[in-house]
Amino acid sequence: MTASPTDQTQQRLVDRFGRVATDLRVSLTDRCNLRCTYCMPPEGLDWLPGDEVLTDDEVVRLIGVATGRLGVQEVRFTGGEPLVRRGLVSIVARTREVAPDAELSITTNALGLAKMAGSLAEAGLDRVNVSLDSIRPDTFAEITRRDRLADVVAGLEAAADAGLGPIKINAVLLRGVNDDQAAELLGWSLERGYELRFIEQMPLDAQHGWSRDTMVTADETLAALSTAFELTPAEEPRGSAPAELFYVDGGPAKVGIIASVTRPFCGDCDRVRLTADGQVRDCLFARSESDLRTPLRAGASDGDLAARWVTAMAGKRAGHGIDDLGFLQPDRPMSAIGG
Ligand code: 5AD
Ligand code: SF4
Repeated sequence: MTASPTDQTQQRLVDRFGRVATDLRVSLTDRCNLRCTYCMPPEGLDWLPGDEVLTDDEVVRLIGVATGRLGVQEVRFTGGEPLVRRGLVSIVARTREVAPDAELSITTNALGLAKMAGSLAEAGLDRVNVSLDSIRPDTFAEITRRDRLADVVAGLEAAADAGLGPIKINAVLLRGVNDDQAAELLGWSLERGYELRFIEQMPLDAQHGWSRDTMVTADETLAALSTAFELTPAEEPRGSAPAELFYVDGGPAKVGIIASVTRPFCGDCDRVRLTADGQVRDCLFARSESDLRTPLRAGASDGDLAARWVTAMAGKRAGHGIDDLGFLQPDRPMSAIGG
């Protein structure tokens, strides 16, 4: 069944609260070359079997359905660590072909980015978000269990040289580990022209070690930053962006706070996720998923896949419910969902 051109623009990923998903996060692998303590145990996890992971062709096909028929305007590649996916550059290039107008970005730990930034930019990638929690080699190694800070710094520089900006850095503060380094990380980022955002730690770790008491809150982060910088709320409308922005010392430099736990922003969510094994998740914290891989491999048409995707979104819950008495952490950890 081929759809007419009108069919192609008809559908949107709208949920029963009227939120429309236009930002697709695509996890390309659940594997990673770091072992951040708030994400994975030292030995890693039971990775997805290779035959369950979508092939390059399958990923590009589903992205094409989302951008061509379902109104998705932004595609963010995530992991695990997307740079360890072998076909990444080609997936980006082919996504650029099927979605010439979409904004394409990647969330990465930047290991290996120094080598790949140029080819990713050539393939059509617009931006990178780099995860970096400390600029001290010992703290970096304590958090990630790998002594690789220098690679991350080189990756950031290469990304800037390749024009993959504005470059954003995501940092998670951990009590007693790097929560004394917030201002230092901000100063370092500002000097280099990177936009830093602090993310509250969420209950998404494989070990189920999250606790509200040890989580560093947005208020605490802001208080720590205020000892070194003057912060004023940025005027620009926040829209569906998770980060609350503040001007630093009068601007134009900014810092972001993503307070997913203490100031949830679910009411403005415009995100939808596709896991590496082809499951649609309507939320990071969703308790269920919708399988697109099985129908895809059984020969479903683009129109059929689009219809299934629309149905999948209808059940999106109003919020993540971390504060609810019955809150249950999702079965999959962050590394298998994609950030
Ligand atoms: N809580 C908050 N952020 C997390 N990240 C990974 N796990 C968590 C968690 N439990 C961050 C990573 C990366 C992005 C994908 O999400 O540091 O920046
Ligand atoms: Fe969206 Fe779920 Fe995140 Fe809330 S928790 S912002 S609904 S993805």
